[in-house]
Amino acid sequence: MTDPARHLVLVGMMGAGKTTVGRAVAARLGSRFVDSDELIEARTGRTVRQIFEADGEPAFRLLETAALVEALADPEPLVIAAAGGVVLQAENRAALERSTALVVWLQADPSVLAGRVGLDDHRPLLGDDPEAALRRLLPERRRWYEEVADTTVETDHVPPDEVIAHVLDVLGETDRHG
Ligand code: S3P
Repeated sequence: MTDPARHLVLVGMMGAGKTTVGRAVAARLGSRFVDSDELIEARTGRTVRQIFEADGEPAFRLLETAALVEALADPEPLVIAAAGGVVLQAENRAALERSTALVVWLQADPSVLAGRVGLDDHRPLLGDDPEAALRRLLPERRRWYEEVADTTVETDHVPPDEVIAHVLDVLGETDRHG
């Protein structure tokens, strides 16, 4: 039996497509979409960049944990885009593990990720050379994405519509098989 309040959580690096795919999947399911960065910005009235610059990354990570815990506690089944760094904190990984959420890792190569992050301003960690930053960060994080994910969806050179369809297929399979 499937838990009726089971959330779908999308994890993966910056540029993996969590927000784009999450919004589309939520629309198809008629579910509410929550992006952890947007939740932080709504709760604090500040942008991710402002928080990083004024208070530093550790302060941001605390807010990120609070946002994840808040979203996972929602009784309504949500589609949650969990920002790239969510997996860094052991307590976040434990929260994902404890929840009944289906966790999907949207995987992509740094060169592909770099092509997608282009103009976005909420990623201070990428600096002047996004591809170099992504190449440095992915090996540090890969094992955490693997650890939290129930399923991995490859997104390299896959059009968004196909990624969305794949995620919906995974959900359909899970609904059928529990
Ligand atoms: C970060 C990812 C960003 C944002 C912040 C830090 C990370 O979110 O939370 O810039 O450490 O991977 P997205 O994954 O939505 O880009």
